[in-house]
Order: sequence, then C-alpha cells, then structure tokens
Amino acid sequence: MKVFITRIIPETGLELLREAGIQYTEHREKRHLSPEELIAACREHDALLSVGGNRIDAAFLQACKHLKVVSLMAVGYDNVDVAAATALKIPIGNTPGVLSNATADTAFLLMLATARKAFHMHKIIARGQWGFFEPTANLGMELNGRTLGVFGLGKIGTALAKKCRGAFDMPVIYHNRSRNEEAEQLLGARYVDFETLLRESDVLSLHAALTPETAGQFNAAAFAKMKPTSIFINTARGAMHNEQDLLAALQQHIIWGAGLDVTNPEPMDKNNPLLEMPNVAVLPHIGSATVEARSGMAKMAAENVIAGLKGAPLPYSVNKL
Ligand code: GLV
Repeated sequence: MKVFITRIIPETGLELLREAGIQYTEHREKRHLSPEELIAACREHDALLSVGGNRIDAAFLQACKHLKVVSLMAVGYDNVDVAAATALKIPIGNTPGVLSNATADTAFLLMLATARKAFHMHKIIARGQWGFFEPTANLGMELNGRTLGVFGLGKIGTALAKKCRGAFDMPVIYHNRSRNEEAEQLLGARYVDFETLLRESDVLSLHAALTPETAGQFNAAAFAKMKPTSIFINTARGAMHNEQDLLAALQQHIIWGAGLDVTNPEPMDKNNPLLEMPNVAVLPHIGSATVEARSGMAKMAAENVIAGLKGAPLPYSVNKL
C-alpha cells in the first residue's frame, strides 16, 4: 500500500507509516501541485495525505475514486467537497484538537501585538526611525476587562477565551450556530446574536469554519456595526473577511485595529497597504506552526492513513460513510 504526501511533513507521521509497512512518496518541491499533477500522482497511490490547500473537489474525487482515504494534515476542510467524497465512499480525515492551543496562542499574540502596535514599532526601529521619546506618541490600548467576542466558540475559540480570561480578565461573549453550554459554564461566556457580537466586542476573534454562510461575512456592513475602538482578529480563514472592506474600515477609523494570520487572498501581496498600518499585525498563516502541534498533526494524519488503508473507520473523521 502506498500513500502520496503533498509536502514534507514531520518525522512523527512518517515513522508511523514506516512501522505500519506503508510506502510513501513525498512531494518535496516548494511549489503547489496543479490539479492535473495531483491526479497523476494519486493514480499511482492508494491514499492521499494532503497538506496545504489542494482542492479535493468533485472533479478530483471522480478522477481518483480508487483512493482508500484522503487524510488532511489540517483541521479545516473547506477545500474538500465532503458530499462528493461521501457519495463515492471515500473517507476524509482531519486533525482537530492538537492545534487548538497553538492557534489560540497566535490569536492572542495578534490581539496584543495589534493593541500595542508591536509589528509597526519593530519596523520603525529597523528603518532607523526610533527618534526620541514622546509621551503622546506610540500609544496603544490596554486589554484588561475588555470584552472578547468569539465568532465560533469551539476548541480553538475556547482555548483563546481561557487565555483572555486568565491574562486580562476579559468577559467573553460568543456567537455560534448552536450554543456551547460547556464553555458557558467554564468561562461564563454569554451567547449573543451576530449583531450583538459585532456591537459589543472590544476584540472580535474568528474561529468558525469557512462555509458558504461564513464566506465574506465580515464585510463593510459588519465592520460598520463594530466599535471604533475595536480590534478584529482572524486566524480562521481569510475568505471570511472582505479585505478591501477591512482596509476601508481601518482607514476610516470605523474599527481601531486588525490582526490577521489568514489573508484574502493568500499569500498577501507585499504592497498591501495593510502592511503599512500601525494598528495592523499580519502573519503568514502560522496558526499551527509549533513543534508540538505540527508533530501531533502529522501523527494524526498518519493514523488516519493507516486506518483508511486497512478499511477501518478513521480515528479522526470528517464524513460519516
Ligand atoms: C490550518 O489552517 C488548518 O486548517 O489546520
């Protein structure tokens, strides 16, 4: 049995595959595979371990019906046509949980970096513009007691809310498709409708999945309802915000700042005006980029491949077959 792996992954995953007697081919070049290349590679293999945004759409799945499993080394699966995979009885796996802390840390980092204009200050020093001390310059904002609004209070949102409560005693409000009563008890989090989330959040952080409903949900109309002192954080998917609208909201002081680990599109153009704004912090989609999270993700993705190749249920499964 052979699996095709679309990027170089941590040894933790490869080791498991070797122990299970599974052969693998790694695509080691630092470039995206075209859809045709991915199909051609998968035709020579029994399973796919997909890293990065490869489109696992209906056309791909039709062309690769023979695959016994598609194992994503990611928690998000918006790049997969799950219904098409299910109809073809192809199991899809993902890696939830193990990256929650790392991703919540990234949101926390962006929140604080934005509040204190940290990325901008770093750039100023590098440009030789430190200048002299001015008591009224470079002022950021304190986060103590400010309200954290979580859009999508699942594992990552809960991890962020815990950190914000512990560090800054931030009250938590959230909006979800369904209530998260466990988190309400644990964090004293208050469920609110979408409008109230926009209106009352001092820091609004996105942790929902990208779906047709959430795509572009954070647009001019949404920003217009937020506080002029608010900070917008996105570590989920760039397609959930309209980046032109976000830029306009920041330029017109409709909101105060933004921290992005995901952009729309990715990668962000180096001339994007957001990169020159003091109250903006941008990272290149590194939410889960810790040794701990990535080793764990590689292991879970390998476990899914091993189970799928045996015809057993996946331990971390996206679709019910
Ligand atoms: C990363 O973006 C993931 O979905 O794991």
